Amino acid sequence: MKNPYRKLMLLGAAATLAFVGGCAPGGGGGGGADEDTPEAAAFRFRQAVMRVAAAKMAPIGAMARGEVPADEAVFAKNVNDLVAAAGMITEGFGADVSNAPAASAALPEIWTNMDDFNERAQNMLAGAQELANAVESGGFAAGQGLVQGTAGNCGACHRSYRQRDE
Ligand code: HEC
Repeated sequence: MKNPYRKLMLLGAAATLAFVGGCAPGGGGGGGADEDTPEAAAFRFRQAVMRVAAAKMAPIGAMARGEVPADEAVFAKNVNDLVAAAGMITEGFGADVSNAPAASAALPEIWTNMDDFNERAQNMLAGAQELANAVESGGFAAGQGLVQGTAGNCGACHRSYRQRDE
């Protein structure tokens, strides 16, 4: 026992990490996002899917609004990637929220209204697929007008099922 404070220091470091992990806005009660539980794994999965969806939606929107020059190949790829992400949304919400990590912004209503939640995910996928079909047949010009509606499906789900930032 050379240093009796070592254990305390380690505990302090762990507490700091737990705090950093848990300080994002969220309603869930359970453990940390890095825990080895089905709920934590589901949280990490949906967070990844959502971040990909957002990373694709942003350049799609910017091109549709004319903020960046239209590039047919880039637009088509981003739209197809968005379809892939949309198709994975429901996979991230299988584990029950009652033990979701504290950092999760998923509202418990998801699990009490699963049919409605899944329908909104389905609307998202259908909208993205419609956009992709239009782009495949008519290119950027055919898809441009559908982008706003597709993006609206993100907010249509978040309004009911994602906790707002404080
Ligand atoms: C069917 C419902 C639904 C749809 C559709 C949806 N989201 Fe989400 N999104 C959620 C929920 C619920 C959360 C909170 C997840 C959590 O924290 O556990 C979330 C979280 C996020 C986050 C935060 C991720 C993080 O880092 O914690 C981003 C960004 C996001 N969504 C972007 C999008 C975008 C962009 C779209 C549309 C292309 C979209 N979402 C479509 C339900 C949805």
